[in-house]
This record gives sequence, C-alpha cells and structure tokens, in this order.
Amino acid sequence: MWVAQTLTADSRGTGANTIGTLVEPFDRVKDLIPGSRRAAAVALGLGHRLSSSARVKRESPPLVFEHVGKRFGDTVVLSDVHFRTEPGELVVLVGPSGCGKSTLMRLVAGLETLSEGAIYAGEKKISALPPHERGVGMVFQSYALYPHLTVRENLAFPLYVQKVPQADQDREVRRVADMLSLGPLLERLPKQLSGGQRQRVAIGRCLVRKPEIYCFDEPLSNLDAALRSQIRVELKSLQRELKKTTIYVTHDQIEAMTMADRIVVLHKGVLQQVGKPEELYLEPKNTFVARFIGSPSMSLIRGDVESGVFASGELKTALAVRSGPAILGLRAEDVVVSSEGPHSGVVKSVEPVGETGYLHLEVAGLRMDPASLGAPGSATETPRAPLLSASIPGRDAFSIREGSVVRFSIREGRARAFDPDSGEALPR
Ligand SMILES: Nc1ncnc2c1ncn2[C@@H]1O[C@H](COP(=O)(O)OP(=O)(O)OP(=O)(O)O)[C@@H](O)[C@H]1O
Ligand SMILES: [Mg+2]
Repeated sequence: MWVAQTLTADSRGTGANTIGTLVEPFDRVKDLIPGSRRAAAVALGLGHRLSSSARVKRESPPLVFEHVGKRFGDTVVLSDVHFRTEPGELVVLVGPSGCGKSTLMRLVAGLETLSEGAIYAGEKKISALPPHERGVGMVFQSYALYPHLTVRENLAFPLYVQKVPQADQDREVRRVADMLSLGPLLERLPKQLSGGQRQRVAIGRCLVRKPEIYCFDEPLSNLDAALRSQIRVELKSLQRELKKTTIYVTHDQIEAMTMADRIVVLHKGVLQQVGKPEELYLEPKNTFVARFIGSPSMSLIRGDVESGVFASGELKTALAVRSGPAILGLRAEDVVVSSEGPHSGVVKSVEPVGETGYLHLEVAGLRMDPASLGAPGSATETPRAPLLSASIPGRDAFSIREGSVVRFSIREGRARAFDPDSGEALPR
C-alpha cells in the first residue's frame, strides 16, 4: 500500500514526490530483484541491499508518439514519427548523425516544442506539460553538469530542488555514486574530471531523480571500452529491474543489439523500422535498414530474377521473389569461403577483428549496389569500393593476404531481396 501510494504520486508527474519514494529508493530496487537474480545483483554491487521480501511493482507508462513532427524554421527535422513503446520497455534509437535522434529526446523531455502531433506517457499527454511535470529524466549527449558544483552537489541537485532532507540526499548520492564508481570523486569539480567520469556524473544525476521515463542520449560515448561494457551491463540490468520505460540513443551497434528490447531506426527524420534486434538484422524492411543494422553492413548486389533464380554476372542463387530487376542482400555470414566454392573473388581487405574475421572481396562482373558504398554506423572499416563481405573464422583471417584469390559460395535461402527503385523489401 505504502509503495503503491508513493508511486502513484510519482506517476502523476505532479512534481510532489513524497519523501517516501525518495528516502528509500533502494526499497524499490531490492523489491524488484527476485532471489534468483541475487547473484546478478551482487555483481552489480547491489547485493548488500537485497531483501527477500517481494512486493508488487508498478509498471512504468508506455511512451506514445502520435504523428510527431518538428521543424526548425523551414527545416523539417522529424516527420510523422508514429510508434509506441511497451510499458517498461528499453527502446534503442539509432540513425546517422543529424537524423533527429536528440531532437526526438528533447521533445520527450520538454526541451523543444512539437510542430505537429503529440507525445503521451500512458494516458497523460506529456507534450502539453512543462518539463518538470513530465516525469522524464534525461541524460544529455553533452553532459551539462553545473561547473561550479562538486560531483556530490551535482548529484544531489535534483533532490535539493525537491527539498529532500539532507540525510536522505546524502544516502541517495552515496547509492548512485557507489553504483557508478564515483565515490572517490565526490568532492571534485567537473573540470577536474575526465570525460568518462563527467558522463557518469550525468548518468548519476538522472538516476537520483528516479523519473518514470528515462531518455539517454549516447550516455556512454565518452567512456573507454572496458568501462563502457561494464556500465552497459549495469544500466541494462538496472533498467530490467526497475522496468522504467527507456529511450536510449547510441551509435554503437553492439550497444543497440545487446541492450534493446526493440530498435527504432530513423533516417532524415523519418521512421524506417521498429522491431526486435533480430527482426531488423534478419528481416530489414528496406535497403537503408539493411545497410545500417549489422556490422559489416549487408552487401547489396544488383541483378535480375527469373523463375526464382537471381543472377548478377556469374553469380546465381535461388531467390523466391517475383521476376524482374532486384537487389540481393547478403550478410557476411551467408557468403561462405571454401576451396570448393563455385565463385571466386579477389581479397581487397582483411579484418581480423577477433573470433570472426571479415574479407571484403572484389568479384568480377558482380554489380554491387552503389548504396553499399560505405557503411553508415558500421563499427568496422568501410570498404572503399563496392565489395562483397564474407565472414571467416578469426584465426584464418591472419593468414589470408590482400590480393589473394578465394573461392566462395552463397548460403541459399537466407538472402533478402529488395526493389531497386523503392529500396523496399520484396515479398517472398
Ligand atoms: N535549434 C536548432 N535549430 C536548427 N536546426 C537544428 C536545431 N537543433 C537541431 N537542428 C538540426 O536538426 C537536425 C537533427 O539534429 P539532432 O541533434 O536531433 O541529430 P542527431 O540525430 O541527434 O545527430 P547526432 O547523432 O550527431 O547526435 C540536424 O540537422 C540539426 O542541425
Ligand atoms: Mg544527437
């Protein structure tokens, strides 16, 4: 009952958070962590706060985007963005630089006004509310810390504004500082921190507010690789336990694929596809998503289909779509390098990136789609000429030299087909 009351007050976004919610924030975390998750919680450094009691948790409201449009003067930045999250879902927003990701987050947080449409948190039309009544916490791409306040004061600031008693502020700051390994830095000013440390303070300042909805705009972009993967795991775990609806922007493919319940792909302010990571990877709706999701990018080959066989130069493969011009989309793992393969290609570049390696092949007569030049969002080096990417065991990649010729085959049945004019996936 107590929990339900405090959470209801919270969820109305009245700004009048009761002290109950704020003084024992970890009550909410520990109550959401069932016994079987104890080990994971201990790994997160939350173990000492666990309790065996289990109370009913309240769902975070879904975020609903209704035909959202945004213009700056004559420049259209977002057009007709229309989708809804599930309650408590983590949605990752991806797209090339300048496609409108930060703008969409700022619209949710109330830092920009909509040109068209509306945004709801559950039944509540938050786009009509001032920022502080929306129940939205945002971590900015640029961390926006108060330069004259110490880390401790920066973290405590949202609680100070809400007039939370000092002892409770201290406890909450300690909890978040522990979680983000900021303990030793509490008395420093932002200018005395590294970029990664500042970013962690910005994340911490969002967490102390305990909003109903989180917006994270590239929160890990300034962290080194080790810290990045550590905090990625912690943030994901925390989000799963708290079950707060979260929109998360990243340029990192691994972050997107591993953290997301669903991914939203934006291109030039237009929503391209919303789906689970595996749906976007296996069933991209158009060539943009095909190219954008996955690393290396899907290779796109222009050719013609006749009676269920796709042909481009010497390459032929079964493709169960209508006859006519088509673009064949091949993932690197569907190009199988073996000495018995019917096709051959010249190795233009080798990427021995670990367990798996990649070869980028030039295949005589193959009409690569110009769209596969470069690979926006790809974590790996982008091939300069339109090349066909193939994956091989990482160890083999060390012994293959650029300029050598390899043979390969196409794994049938997994290729995607797209309309060369519209770029849309062709029905099978
Ligand atoms: N206040 C503004 N006035 C005019 N144009 C703006 C304003 N804010 C953003 N834009 C433009 O809107 C577009 C989208 O910007 P936004 O910051 O949302 O992109 P983004 O997807 O977050 O990019 P990045 O990945 O580089 O962070 C850009 O072309 C940007 O120049
Ligand atoms: Mg941005």
